[in-house]
Amino acid sequence: MDRPVIYADLNLPRDSGLKSSSPPSPPQDICQCPRWHQFALKLGCAGILLLALTVIVLSVSVIFLGQKSSIEKSSVDIQERRNETTERPNLLNCPTDWHLIQEKCLFISQNPSPWNDSLADCSTKESILLLIRDQEELKLIQKLIEHEGILYWIGLNFTLPEKNWRWINGSFLKPDALKITGDAEENNCALISKEKIFSENCEAENKWICQKELKSVRNKVCPDS
Ligand SMILES: *[C@@H]1O[C@H](CO)[C@@H](O)[C@H](O)[C@H]1NC(C)=O
Ligand SMILES: *[C@@H]1O[C@H](CO)[C@@H](O)[C@H](O)[C@H]1NC(C)=O
Ligand SMILES: *[C@@H]1O[C@H](CO)[C@@H](O)[C@H](O)[C@H]1NC(C)=O
Ligand SMILES: *[C@@H]1O[C@H](CO)[C@@H](O)[C@H](O)[C@H]1NC(C)=O
Repeated sequence: MDRPVIYADLNLPRDSGLKSSSPPSPPQDICQCPRWHQFALKLGCAGILLLALTVIVLSVSVIFLGQKSSIEKSSVDIQERRNETTERPNLLNCPTDWHLIQEKCLFISQNPSPWNDSLADCSTKESILLLIRDQEELKLIQKLIEHEGILYWIGLNFTLPEKNWRWINGSFLKPDALKITGDAEENNCALISKEKIFSENCEAENKWICQKELKSVRNKVCPDS
């Protein structure tokens, strides 16, 4: 009959030892046991406690490390998002004095210059001379122009070997896309007015229109399209 009692004693502290550090709840039984028995019991308890402590420390450190890495990750996410949002206002809103037309910001110069200087001026503004996609865009841009008699350089000139009008992005003007009034010959550059597109000697002095495209906003706002 002694053995089952001993097993019961060993099991009790094992169960409660994990939950609380007060195993001497059944003091009577322990006192009845031999001394070496009590010692073994204490040793066992200490071992279990040590094990439990190790498990707790390990799991806490695992949780902590997990949280730390996720915090680092989310701070990178926040950083990225902050970069996006700090970039966005620049792209969504045109700079002061620039006009928003569809996905472009347009700058209309005040002082006349030859075509090559207009080209250079736009690039100092981190933009390019105006490109016109089609008749629809042409009409929108012409609405911006207040006075009928004023002409503005755009990013289109006549190139010799090809004997064709070429946009400054490298593409040739599609036949019949836009009607150009005037000669198509060497040293000619294109001008836009409220009514028409003209050909003119590139060294003549005229105002000009620069454009910045809002491509990146479009990509960020609707990445699916
Ligand atoms: C955010 O921008 C800063 C400075 O412009 C740069 O140093 C940093 O690497 C950028 N962060 C990310 C996640 O792109
Ligand atoms: C534009 O052309 C003129 C005359 O050829 C020249 O003097 C001037 O430096 C050129 N401007 C630029 C920005 O290249
Ligand atoms: C260059 O600009 C013209 C006018 O907007 C456009 O029709 C053409 O597709 C553009 N080419 C490239 C390579 O972007
Ligand atoms: C026409 O534009 C191109 C750049 O697109 C330039 O290299 C060339 O010198 C220009 N021609 C004239 C006559 O300005």
